[in-house]
This record gives sequence, C-alpha cells and structure tokens, in this order.
Amino acid sequence: MIIILDFGSQYTQLIARRVREFKVYCEILPHTVSHKEIFKKNPSGIILSGGPASVNGGGKSPSCDKEITSGRVPVLGICYGMQLLAHQHGGRVASARRREFGHAEISVENAGELFKGLASNLNVWMSHGDEVQNLPQGFVRLAKTANAEMAAMAWPEKKLYGVQFHPEVAHTPQGKQILSNFLFNICRESVDWKMSSFIESEIKRIKAQVGADRAVCGMSGGVDSAVASVLVHRAIGQQLHCVFVDNGLLRHGEKERVEEVFRKRFGSHLHIVDARKDFLKKLKGVADPEKKRKIIGKTFIEVFDREAKKLGKVKFLVQGTLYPDLIESQSVRGPSAVIKTHHNVGGLPKKMKLSLIEPLKFLFKDEVRELGAELGLPSEILKRHPFPGPGLAVRILGDVTEEKLKLVSLADKIVEEEIRAAGIYEKLWQAFAVLIPVRTVGVMGDDRTYERVAVLRAVTSADAMTADWADIPKPVLSKISNRIINEIRGINRVVYDISSKPPATIEWE
Ligand code: XMP
Repeated sequence: MIIILDFGSQYTQLIARRVREFKVYCEILPHTVSHKEIFKKNPSGIILSGGPASVNGGGKSPSCDKEITSGRVPVLGICYGMQLLAHQHGGRVASARRREFGHAEISVENAGELFKGLASNLNVWMSHGDEVQNLPQGFVRLAKTANAEMAAMAWPEKKLYGVQFHPEVAHTPQGKQILSNFLFNICRESVDWKMSSFIESEIKRIKAQVGADRAVCGMSGGVDSAVASVLVHRAIGQQLHCVFVDNGLLRHGEKERVEEVFRKRFGSHLHIVDARKDFLKKLKGVADPEKKRKIIGKTFIEVFDREAKKLGKVKFLVQGTLYPDLIESQSVRGPSAVIKTHHNVGGLPKKMKLSLIEPLKFLFKDEVRELGAELGLPSEILKRHPFPGPGLAVRILGDVTEEKLKLVSLADKIVEEEIRAAGIYEKLWQAFAVLIPVRTVGVMGDDRTYERVAVLRAVTSADAMTADWADIPKPVLSKISNRIINEIRGINRVVYDISSKPPATIEWE
C-alpha cells in the first residue's frame, strides 16, 4: 500500500485518485500521525502532499515525524512535500525569487528512475511561493525550470524524491507516467486495489463513526444517493432510515422504480413520502425560475424535517456528496456569479443538527458507478442521466400545474424510451422534454387544434460545464415527434433545441 500524508493541499484526494487508477491501494493520513503508526501498515512508499503553508512558518508549519522521511521506505514529496523533505534533511527553502502559478516547462537533466522514459522537456503545473534553494546533502537535482532552480530532486540511494510541480493534475500531461514510475519502479508496488477493498474499509469506518446511533438518508432516485445509501446500509443495516420525497416533480414512474429497487433492501426503513400537494400548493402561480428553485429547496427541507422527526432520535445524515462537489464547495474558483441556485440538501444538517456521513466524498462519478455495480445496484440506476433537484418544475417554463406536469412527464417518457430504443442513451449526457408557455395552431384530422409546444433537448457533455446539442439521427427525431404529438393530448408541436452551452444552459431554467 501507499500512504499519502496530507499537508492541506486541495489536490490530496486527486493524488489518491491517481494512485487508485493504477489499482494500487492507498490511504490518506493526516501529517500528524507517528512513524510507528505508519510503518505498522507496512507501506511500500509514502507521498507527501502539497499544502498552502511555508516550511519556514516556525511551529505553525505542518510537519511530520522525521523518521518517516529517513529513507526506510521510498518517499515522493510534492510541492510543499518536496520543500518539507528538503527542510528536514538540512536543505534551504525560501520565498521564491519568482513565484510560479500555472503552466511551466521543466528541463530534466537527470532522469533517474522518476523521469525514466520521458522527454527531457516537460510541461507541468506549478503553484508555489517557496522554493528549495539549496539541496540537502546527498540529494541531486533532477530538473529545473527557467524560474526555479530546483524543480525536482532526489537522493536515489535512499529513494527519496521531490517534485516542485503537481504530477497529479491533468495540466501536467506526463504526470501519470511520473507517478507510475514512482509506484512501480521505485516502490515496486503491485496492482491489487479493488473496489471491494474500498467497500470493506468504508464499512469499517462508517460502523465506527455511527456506533449505536441512527442515520437518515434523503434518496432522490439518482445515482449518488442510491449508492451512498446502499453502502451505509451494508455498514449499519437497520440503524439507517431512507426517506424518498415524492415532490410530484419527478420523472414518470420514478416513485415505483425506487420502491422496486430499494424496498427489498431497506424494507420498512424506506419511507416514501407523498408530498405532491405541498409542493404544488407552494409553487402555485410562481413563474420566476429562481423563485421556483428556492421554494422547492425550502419545501424539501420542511418535508424531510417533518418526516425525520417521526423517526425519533437520529444523529447522522447520509449525503452522496462526490469529490468534485467538495472541490467546488471549497470555493477554490473564487467568487462567481450565481447562474442557478442548485437545489441540494445543504440546508438540512444545520437545521436538524445532524452530523454528516459522506462515503463518496473521495470518489469521482465513474468510481461511484463502479462502486454501485460492486454493491449490486442495477445498471439502469447506475447509468441514469442526471436529473435536476427541482425536477420537472424547471422544465415547465412559467407556472407549474398538475396538467403541465402530466404533459411534460409523458413527453419525457417518450423521449427516454425512443433514445434507449435507438441505442444512444449512454452516448448522451441528457435527453429530455421541456414544455414552453406557448400555444400554436395545428390540424388534426380535419380539426383545428390550438395546443402546447414541447421542446426536445438532448446534449453531449463530459461534465455539464460545457455541452453541445446532440446530433440525433432523423428517424429517431421523427419517431419522438410523432409519438409525442399522437399520444399526448394537449401537445401539437415538437421543436428541437440546437443551442450549445455556453451560451445556453442545459436546462431551460
Ligand atoms: P445547467 O442547466 O446549469 O445544468 O447547464 C448543468 C447540469 O446540472 C443539472 N442541474 C441540476 N442538478 N440540482 C441538481 O442536482 C439543480 O438544481 C440542477 N440544475 C441543473 C442539469 O440537469 C445538468 O445536468
């Protein structure tokens, strides 16, 4: 196994993800753990993460037991980790003459094991204010940049390595190769990490966290809450209660699907709450998108709170927070405009005084799908397109009524059926129907109609940050249009949205 010591970098989890991608088991530990604790685990190597501090901060700088970096096992220090390694071995670290943030090019002058097989000039991602100015005894320079004398260093006999840049981020294109060299050439690691080992260690961790207390999970029918709840259920069984709020804004048949998949797992601890009337009442006459979102978020919290109170004393809330959500919420991007208020259960823990269990917070979406499959969840749930928290309310432009909900959910069902039948469901990020507050004239049989317009929205995307409208084959478009107009009384026209994001967004509201 590999131990990653965390010195507070926003990329620590990303290092773990990279190591896992090589199927090598790793654990992240705080930098304060003793060498005894670390060596008891018998690691084949240790990675020191980056961090925002300076090693010259006196007692305030995060440090680690010196024995850890003494060379008993190979060490790779990244950014702050490299500076600490140098500092602990008697090198000089000081404020950089020219700080580096962003892209840089390093020239490798001594490839050694770390840069084996790589070109001598590499693009890397830097982010540091301090730098190693004098190498400690025993160390040699491996690489430099135009600004930093010491971009990488090593004491090869002791297998101690340091890089000033971040090999774990995507902006260092050869970073994976560098990490692979460390893991396999230097630490002599073997490929053995499996999702099943993650499940085992998480179950242990959750059991210890919850003890004899009880937890509640808000299920949405989406992938993340489904996987999180099943994992926590494996750990604490009947101490978990799952609450699914039917807000009436869900996809067609969603409540039944949730019932079918989860009733047999959770039994009477699956609580399906029919809150359709609450939501419709509160949304009555409201047409403004942001107002709708806020009302839905607030109503969800009220309903959930009301329901949870019926359960008696509950101490924990299970959330399907993923690693990208975590990074975003740390506001590393700086202040940005609110385009849409995303609805999630963020307001719940505060109101209900609950502690969080977030078993997916170190995973990425694809890992969550893999975990779900390992836990036996059907692929129909795992491969589901994303669905917004405020649901169909943001796919009905203007005010929300029962009649419009029926129209849009039926249209949406047809879109999904035909996209699946054409075998392109998994190629698309999302495909759905939107109802716009417009009526148009049509002719059906010999009669004039004056009915609503449905929009077909289908996009491809990697992460929803940007998206392109999908080029769905014409026969599939025809089938969707035909079925919607023929099968749904109240819609007489279908149009296709051909806007990309940006400047449009994926959802219409
Ligand atoms: P937009 O419309 O902003 O959507 O391009 C990007 C992605 O996010 C989904 N979405 C939401 N998901 N709560 C969610 O959980 C929300 O309030 C919400 N709004 C949009 C949307 O479906 C798309 O995948």
